[in-house]
Amino acid sequence: MSTHIGAQKGDIAEVVLLPGDPMRAKWIAETFLESPKLYNDVRGMLGYTGTYKGNRVSVQGTGMGIPSTLIYCHELITNYGVKNLIRVGSAGSYKETVKIRDIVIAMAASSTSGINNSRFINSDYAPTANFELFMKAALYAKNNNIDIKAGNVLSADVFYEDDFNSYKKWADFGVLCVEMETAGLYTIAAKHNVKALSILTISDSLVTKESTSASDRESTFKTMIEIALSTVD
Ligand code: ADE
Repeated sequence: MSTHIGAQKGDIAEVVLLPGDPMRAKWIAETFLESPKLYNDVRGMLGYTGTYKGNRVSVQGTGMGIPSTLIYCHELITNYGVKNLIRVGSAGSYKETVKIRDIVIAMAASSTSGINNSRFINSDYAPTANFELFMKAALYAKNNNIDIKAGNVLSADVFYEDDFNSYKKWADFGVLCVEMETAGLYTIAAKHNVKALSILTISDSLVTKESTSASDRESTFKTMIEIALSTVD
């Protein structure tokens, strides 16, 4: 057992999909994996291991935000030997060209979080996707005619901003969308020399103020999980 995960060594696969919502972890495990087994329910942060096309895969909820995500990623990597961490989450669009239901693969993650300011004082660190995972996901999407967008995303610490127009500055500098975890994931993966990728579906738009319905979210989520699982071999 680690501090926040009640699994034994060996219970967790080397590849872990990471939704923020633990109920999504259950849904992913039950929808996509063969013989899924629950290995964690500490704090309700469900984690499952099963197989996908004969390969062992786990799915672990992370909760919302970088601090919660870092706790789970740290323990998955250092206590359970996880090597590939793939976030599957939602994001809010910052651009007119990024529509609700679109899939965005985060090549890099800007951030309003303090985690790297306190590490690299007066300098910027650029948390980036693992190239091999990124290429596998992008090629799968291309070969299956799935339209994706890829680029810089913002990992924000605050969901309800004081100024709802503050997104425009990021959009002007090419940031596609906002979520709350990827910069933490890419940074901790780099620190431990493991691989990470973040795949996002657009659930709402700060530009048009639209948001997706629950049934919309389920169908786009399925495509995103297929892309994530295409990286497993
Ligand atoms: N995840 C989905 N939509 C979001 C938004 N608008 N801000 C932050 N995280 C999000």
